[in-house]
Amino acid sequence: MSMPATSNDRVKVVSKLPGWLRQNLKVRTAQLGIEIQTAVEQGIAAWCDLASATASVDTGGAESFSTFLPPGQWEEFRGIAEDRRVSLIQGLAQSVQLWLDTHPAPDVQRSEIPRRIIVCNQKGGVGKTAITAGVGEALSEDSTRLFPVRVAKALATALRDSEDQPDSAESDNDPLSVEKLPGHGLRVLLVDFDPQCHLTNQLGAAPLPMNGDSLTNHMAGETKGELRDLIVSVDEEHFGGRLHLLPACHDAFLLDVRLSAVRARESALERALMPLESDYDVIIVDCPPSLGLSMDAAAYYGRRRDGEVPGESGALIVVQAEDSSADAYDLLTNQIEDLRNDLALDIDYLGIVVNLYDSRRGYIATSSLQGWVDIKDPKVVGLISDLKEQKEAVRMKQPLLSYAPSSQQAVAMRALAREIS
Ligand SMILES: Nc1ncnc2c1ncn2[C@@H]1O[C@H](COP(=O)(O)OP(=O)(O)O)[C@@H](O)[C@H]1O
Ligand SMILES: [Mg+2]
Repeated sequence: MSMPATSNDRVKVVSKLPGWLRQNLKVRTAQLGIEIQTAVEQGIAAWCDLASATASVDTGGAESFSTFLPPGQWEEFRGIAEDRRVSLIQGLAQSVQLWLDTHPAPDVQRSEIPRRIIVCNQKGGVGKTAITAGVGEALSEDSTRLFPVRVAKALATALRDSEDQPDSAESDNDPLSVEKLPGHGLRVLLVDFDPQCHLTNQLGAAPLPMNGDSLTNHMAGETKGELRDLIVSVDEEHFGGRLHLLPACHDAFLLDVRLSAVRARESALERALMPLESDYDVIIVDCPPSLGLSMDAAAYYGRRRDGEVPGESGALIVVQAEDSSADAYDLLTNQIEDLRNDLALDIDYLGIVVNLYDSRRGYIATSSLQGWVDIKDPKVVGLISDLKEQKEAVRMKQPLLSYAPSSQQAVAMRALAREIS
């Protein structure tokens, strides 16, 4: 009889388990990073050690369930179940329920200071807005549900594939590289910091009316109310009320001019957003395609604060795998360097995301990707293919991860979110 390599020292057992209990087991083991067979083994061992059977579990509609247990465990369990006059199916259900009861879901990890992720590049059209939304969506997904994530596929493999086989879509579809993992369950605020209001429009929200209250006014110190009152919740059904958006207003086209009259203007974004910080675990700023004062304020906001671990907050740079992106990258990093030096700040790089990647474009794409990888510090933390779902989601004004939750792009966005968290 052939068995999977990981189960060589175990014996396959086939029984039945109700669908809901199997699902709970699947989610909890993923949350705790434990193999299902280990959890079942622990549950059965604990159940056998009890003085008597536990409360009866509804096993109606139980379906076939197989797992691998250490040799002899199933026989011992069978004997004890007989003594307790419960069926094997009931005994197994009780064992699994016992394991679930004794292994509660981990609490969502919240840091005291919310993480600030500044998504930037002064070049337009590279995908800053798409990455801001995708990362925010991934970080706010339900921690009690499982979502497909591209995990095992390292960048090195992607690079090798791109040399070996010109069709990247095919290698991306490799099911072995996709794993189901629980969401992060974090409270996320997306800040549309671009006067073009792309993020706001893409998520189906309305840009704030001119002459009303706005982030620009708060940064310029001319508030007309609470910034909190401008925030909208995005797709509550999918994101459970954890994903919020601070919409932009076209008045931000004048932000740099207005900031020039503000004292300590680098900290203007921080002053404006500070009152909201306690409501969120992560704040992601979608920067405009410019290197003006507003970019300084965004970079300042992403600096490492006292007591913050390096790499928690900082700049996430989105580029394309093409040569013209490299010049833009140099300009941006020079500006961040200047800010670091002039104001003696620690501004960390969270990494480079290579977006709109299509290895079918041949040498230009693959050699540029290699160029980004060779930078090493910051390292490439995400590789997102040029695929239709992103454009469709924008057209439909829906978040990518709820519009096409299992698409290769969604799966890669979740991988990126994990890479930087
Ligand atoms: N990975 C992707 N695949 C396909 N289309 C993409 C991808 N990333 C971005 N796009 C599309 O490219 C355009 C520019 O992206 P956007 O995120 O608005 O860039 P930026 O914010 O840097 O200007 C948008 O129409 C967007 O939908
Ligand atoms: Mg944009």
